[in-house]
Amino acid sequence: MVEYQWWQTGVIYQIYPRSFSDTTGNGIGDLRGIIQKLDYLAQTLGIDAIWLSPFYPSPMADFGYDVEDYCNVHPMFGNLDDFDKLIINAHERDIRVIIDWVPNHSSDQHPWFKESRSSLENPKRDWYVWADPTVGGGAPNNWLSVFGGSAWELDQKTGQYYLHSFLKEQPDLNWRNPEIKRVMFETIRFWLDRGVDGFRVDVAHYIMKDPDLRDNPPSPSGALTFHRPHGEYDSQIHLYDKGHEDVHQVYREFRSLLDGYSKESPRMSVGEIHIFEWQDWVKYYGSPEAGLEFHLPFNFTLLKVPWQAKAVRKAVDELESVLPGWAWPNYVFGNHDEGRLASRFGVEQARVAAILLLTLRGTPTIYYGEEIGMTDVEIPPEDQLDPFGLQVPGWGRDRCRTPMQWNSGRHAGFSDKPDPGLWLPLSEDYRRVNVESENECPGSMLTLYRELILLRKSSLALRQGKYRNVNSVPDDCFVYIREAAEEKYLIALNFSPDRRLINNFGYQEGKIVLSSLLDRTELIDSGELSLRPNEGVVAIINT
Ligand code: NOJ
Repeated sequence: MVEYQWWQTGVIYQIYPRSFSDTTGNGIGDLRGIIQKLDYLAQTLGIDAIWLSPFYPSPMADFGYDVEDYCNVHPMFGNLDDFDKLIINAHERDIRVIIDWVPNHSSDQHPWFKESRSSLENPKRDWYVWADPTVGGGAPNNWLSVFGGSAWELDQKTGQYYLHSFLKEQPDLNWRNPEIKRVMFETIRFWLDRGVDGFRVDVAHYIMKDPDLRDNPPSPSGALTFHRPHGEYDSQIHLYDKGHEDVHQVYREFRSLLDGYSKESPRMSVGEIHIFEWQDWVKYYGSPEAGLEFHLPFNFTLLKVPWQAKAVRKAVDELESVLPGWAWPNYVFGNHDEGRLASRFGVEQARVAAILLLTLRGTPTIYYGEEIGMTDVEIPPEDQLDPFGLQVPGWGRDRCRTPMQWNSGRHAGFSDKPDPGLWLPLSEDYRRVNVESENECPGSMLTLYRELILLRKSSLALRQGKYRNVNSVPDDCFVYIREAAEEKYLIALNFSPDRRLINNFGYQEGKIVLSSLLDRTELIDSGELSLRPNEGVVAIINT
């Protein structure tokens, strides 16, 4: 009998701390705010783990992904006592806590970097990636920053360039130096000792680059590096500036550290890996023979493929066929870098997406606010804060990071700030789209998420059963079966705005237990299932 772990059977919920709940009245969320909302997460919604985006001390050039101290809490979010309380309170409610760990780069205000840049001879010089200008002057090679422009910044004082794969305020740490591994692994132990259950590893594949710093070749096709066009960054094949094979050794050691930490309460890791070649991506699981790596490398494929039944089905089938039997799948539909589901597909299809996410085989990660159907907030250019959007048009991420909508009152219940001016504006729909109103409404998005999570919890087939795709269904529908022991569920999703008939799924009788519209439970008695426009259903099958 395989024993399943919490990170396989549970549902993960991502919290962007700045936007979850503000208890100090400054218009920015904090750790105490998260503590106050744990009952909502545990009881109303029913999730099993939270992943917190960075709360570390930081100058906030990239809203916390520029870390100034890996072992502390930014005063804006609280302090280490608050963090300890958060862990205790979460664990009391059976909620695991996953924190963000940012190994590729620190802030340029981190004491390590300040020392490193102070002189060529400084003992920490080699803690970051420094290189001489080319003979004629200029950056050491053609590498580009994800956030626009060259990935190199000249340090006038010492005459060398340092590498920054993201902002120039985020210098890349040199993982080829064993000292970096040592000190960064110490930061992991620091949080493990505080009771953290897992780590989400920021841009995990970036940490190892070509040791010879070779130029990236041009990309003749201009193929997409991410899932959307990315201007100049797409002009190269990013062969040398990330994902060097040596990265796997680091994550094997990282995994040993986690696995060796506690037999009683196993810890987990989930890697942020934007790789869309299945064979390269799957390597980040490692292997039992060579050594395991991530418990879960985030699977971003469903962010990349168009929202069409055929494309989604293909992505799921490919994942199922590429994974070795011992590796566990996972799915992500949104996060603090992506547009919200309701804005990407419309509210009706966002409900279909909720069914998909919570009935596929694999760990689902829900981004805060998706459970009430929050939408992107268009922010006028002059008010935008995200440096990515300011440097690369179209990539602004403020729109999906707006404050959580708790009720229809002042500041949507997110903050008691006496004056206007939350850190980002609220969505205008908050009087209607909010936790309090939706909690009382039997047809709401919140009710849909809650019922899906409950159903998943109560069903072995949905939690850990096999996945089987049903062929011979209309092109714009995705239909599959989840089964374990005697239990079978049929999931039928209609991606089209028209009615569709599903009559070829191989069983005669069953019962619809949930519709995305939450308005019907009915018997299936003739091997046929009629789907209304944009409807998804979950049915239990009599076998
Ligand atoms: C990925 C994170 O998700 C994103 O928000 C951040 O800006 C970059 N990594 C750089 O750390």
